[in-house]
Amino acid sequence: MDYDIAEPHADAIIQSARSIGYDLPTAIADIMDNSIAAGASNIWLAFFWDGERSWISIRDDGSGMNEKTLVNAMRLGSLSPLAYRSDRDLGRFGLGLKTASFSQCKRLIVRTKAENAPACTRCWDLDYVTESREWRLFKEISELSESHLAEFNPKSHGTIVLWEDMDRLVAHNQTENRMQQDRFYQRVDQVIEHNSMVFHKFLERPNGGLTCWANGNKVSPWNPFLPREAATQGLPEEHLHYNGQTVDVFPYILPHQSRLKPEIFKLAGGSRGWNDLQGFYVYRNGRMLVAGDWLGLGLQKEEHCKLARIELNITTAMDMDWQIDVKKSRARPPAAIRDDLRRIASLTRTKAVEVYRSRGKVLTRARSDEVVFLWDTLRRHGKNRFIINRDYPAVATVRRLCGEHTWEYFDALLRLIEETLPVSCANENPDTSRQVQGQASTLNDLSQLSIICHLLFKVLVASGNSKGHAIELLATMAPFNQYPELLATLEDGEGDNQSDDR
Ligand SMILES: Nc1ncnc2c1ncn2[C@@H]1O[C@H](COP(=O)(O)OP(=O)(O)O)[C@@H](O)[C@H]1O
Ligand SMILES: [Mg+2]
Repeated sequence: MDYDIAEPHADAIIQSARSIGYDLPTAIADIMDNSIAAGASNIWLAFFWDGERSWISIRDDGSGMNEKTLVNAMRLGSLSPLAYRSDRDLGRFGLGLKTASFSQCKRLIVRTKAENAPACTRCWDLDYVTESREWRLFKEISELSESHLAEFNPKSHGTIVLWEDMDRLVAHNQTENRMQQDRFYQRVDQVIEHNSMVFHKFLERPNGGLTCWANGNKVSPWNPFLPREAATQGLPEEHLHYNGQTVDVFPYILPHQSRLKPEIFKLAGGSRGWNDLQGFYVYRNGRMLVAGDWLGLGLQKEEHCKLARIELNITTAMDMDWQIDVKKSRARPPAAIRDDLRRIASLTRTKAVEVYRSRGKVLTRARSDEVVFLWDTLRRHGKNRFIINRDYPAVATVRRLCGEHTWEYFDALLRLIEETLPVSCANENPDTSRQVQGQASTLNDLSQLSIICHLLFKVLVASGNSKGHAIELLATMAPFNQYPELLATLEDGEGDNQSDDR
């Protein structure tokens, strides 16, 4: 049969390979996967700021590669996705090293040494590939690049991956620019947070585990299930079978905030916050792929379910069924076990709501030092003046909702109220402390207070607070702090209806 060879254009393919959608943390995690698969006990990450010449390296003491393996590893598609992968392997497409690197940089250098073999080096320079339109993989590197590899000095074996010319991260950045430098190191912090999460199982293993260093500092594991907290509840584990495979599921209810030390509570909420971190955590061979997701099972992230976190373990043999993507940041459960997962999720959520509710009652009584009062007194010329506290959450929120164009009217109204406050009213109150309960504490008519409470709840939610947070805010606002039973009626979002019933 007659045919043409229609090879892909190097420049076009290379550019597409840059756009798979990694960010810095997921890209570095993909490089670290290779180190772990190569049996590394240590991974050293180096982030070096130098404006647009900044560079990043990922170095390991894994098995390394000989020259032939290295050249193949640098090839796009070094191993077919259909090939068999061992249980230790974290790869799949034979792309990660290249796609993750090219998503962040234009020059990728790998130096590696296998036992009883000399070290060898290869370099992809994307500008050169684009210009020459050929897959020319360099064997030599510049003196400057050589200096960035100085730390690589393995006695027996290991690998270093070096990223230079990071146009996506530091294009046109200047070494002296403090803001740009800060931004660079903020990104580094995100990398560390991500790694401490996705590799926590490796970092936690006492023997034969992994130690990871970021600019010389040890990265500590971040375990989403708080296994060391006595108040963490493990629900019965389940083992779901399909197609001769087994998926292991371990549901957890995390402790309520009131049962955790503030620093543990804060840490367990990470930068995404507790609400966003609820859901399934999917691990593949111990490496976390998905963190806090209801996996498209038709369940929403709700404030009341935020204590539910479920561990789910799969193996590389299930990659196709779970639609693992190149970035290894997505997994979708196969149809055969979706119903089971929905059942487990619903049960875990129900239990999580119970814990949230039962403890929530306690929480609605804010500590006295947390209570915020609507009226403040200001002492001026020896006299007390009553002023409205602009930091009272409802005042601050309504002012913000007014928007820039109308908040001066709102301010004028507040000043008017302050200026025209009946003198007798002010004088009658002998309390000269800075914080004054005002008339509200004498409100006997609970139904009036209830209407105001529901309206303010609605305002707080409308301005972007979750319902749970809105209730927490109200619990700090005098006089509502004294009426937990009123706040309890706000749960489930009933407040929206009642305030309309006025
Ligand atoms: N740090 C490393 N140590 C040893 N071998 C590596 C390392 N990084 C990459 N390799 C080799 O390069 C190959 C290609 O890596 P990659 O492009 O990430 O694809 P995948 O991980 O899907 O196989 C790996 O299968 C492995 O053989
Ligand atoms: Mg890989």
